[in-house]
Amino acid sequence: MRLPRSVEMAEVGGRRVLVRADFNVPLAGGVIADDTRIRAALPTLRWLLDHGASEVVVCSHLGRPKDAADHERLAIAPVAQRLRELLPDSRLRVLENTRFHPGETANDAVFAAELAAGMDLFVNDAFGSAHRVHGSTAGVARLLPSYGGFLLLAEIEHLGRLLGDVRRPFVLVAGGAKVEDKLAVLEHLGGRADQVLIGGKMAEQVRVHNPLSFPCELPTDVVAARSFAADAEALAVGVDDIPDGWLGLDIGPETAMAFGEILRGAATIFWNGPMGVFEWDRFATGTRTVAEAVASADAYAVVGGGDSVRAITELGLAGDVSWVSTGGGASLEFLEGRELPGIAAIPEGESRPC
Ligand code: 3PG
Repeated sequence: MRLPRSVEMAEVGGRRVLVRADFNVPLAGGVIADDTRIRAALPTLRWLLDHGASEVVVCSHLGRPKDAADHERLAIAPVAQRLRELLPDSRLRVLENTRFHPGETANDAVFAAELAAGMDLFVNDAFGSAHRVHGSTAGVARLLPSYGGFLLLAEIEHLGRLLGDVRRPFVLVAGGAKVEDKLAVLEHLGGRADQVLIGGKMAEQVRVHNPLSFPCELPTDVVAARSFAADAEALAVGVDDIPDGWLGLDIGPETAMAFGEILRGAATIFWNGPMGVFEWDRFATGTRTVAEAVASADAYAVVGGGDSVRAITELGLAGDVSWVSTGGGASLEFLEGRELPGIAAIPEGESRPC
C-alpha cells in the first residue's frame, strides 16, 4: 500500500506551514452540530506547533457555496472560532472557505500559487477531501514540499487494512439511501467479504434490480409505516406482506436479530449506511441493533459514511469500534480501490504490505 510521506519527516522549526484540513462540518442555524472533523485535525496541528513552526495557516472548504448569497451562511468563522477554543495559539491562522474562490474547484494554478505564496511547506490532513482534484488539495501539493498529516495517514492505514489480508469472517454491512454511490464499493469489497448484509433503502434496490455479482443477506422482515413521518403508524411485517401504500422504514426485529448474530461472530467488519430512518425513534431499532453488534464484536471494525458515523456517535459507541472514518465519498472511493488525487499528489513515504 502506498503511503504518502508523513509530516513527521518534515523540518518545521521556524517554517510557515500551510495545512489543508477537512472542516466541512454539519451546521445547524450557523452553529456547528458536530465538531468531530475539527478535533480530528488537532494532532497534526499540535505537532506542527510543538515542533516550532513559526506560523500554521489552515484552510478548508465548508459546504458547497454556489453564489455570493452563500458566503455568509458558509463563512469559516464558526469553525475558526471552535478551532481557537480547542487550540489557542497565536501562530495559528485560518483562511476563509476555500470554495469562495472559483479557482478552488477548478484547480486553478493561479489560486494554488496564491495559497502557496509565502509558505514553506504543505501538509494535507484532509482525508475527507482527498478524492477532490482541487486547488487546496492536489494543486498546492505540486508547488510546495508536501507531507501527509496524521489523520490522512491513519485513514489510509485503517481503511487500507480492509483491502488487504483481513481476519475472517469478514462481514460487510451496508445500508442507507445513496445506492448508486455505494454500488462500486460494494462490488469491490463485497466479493472479498464472507458475508454481505444489506438493509435500509439499499435492500429494496438490491431486491428489485439485483445489481450485485455476489450473494448477500437481505431483510426478511421490515418495520413498515403508513406514511413517511416520525409518528406514523408502524408495524413489523414480512418483506412480502407490506400493506399496499405503506413504506419500509427499518429492518424488522427478525432481521435485526439475525444481522446482530452474524456481526457478533465477525473478525473484520466494515459498516456503511444505516438500516432505516434512525433519526426517528420508531424506526431506529435496526440501526441501533447493528451498531451495538458492531461495537461489541471482537473484530477489527471500521465505520464509514456520514449517517452510520452519526448513528454510532449518537449512540455513544464510537469509542468501541476500531476506526470511525472522517471520510464520506473519499472513504468509499478509497475502498473502491481508486487512487485519491489528494494523496497521489504527496510524494511517497514508505510502502507497507497490506
Ligand atoms: C465530505 O463531506 O464528504 C467532504 O468534505 C467533501 O465534500 P464535497 O463532497 O462537497 O466535496
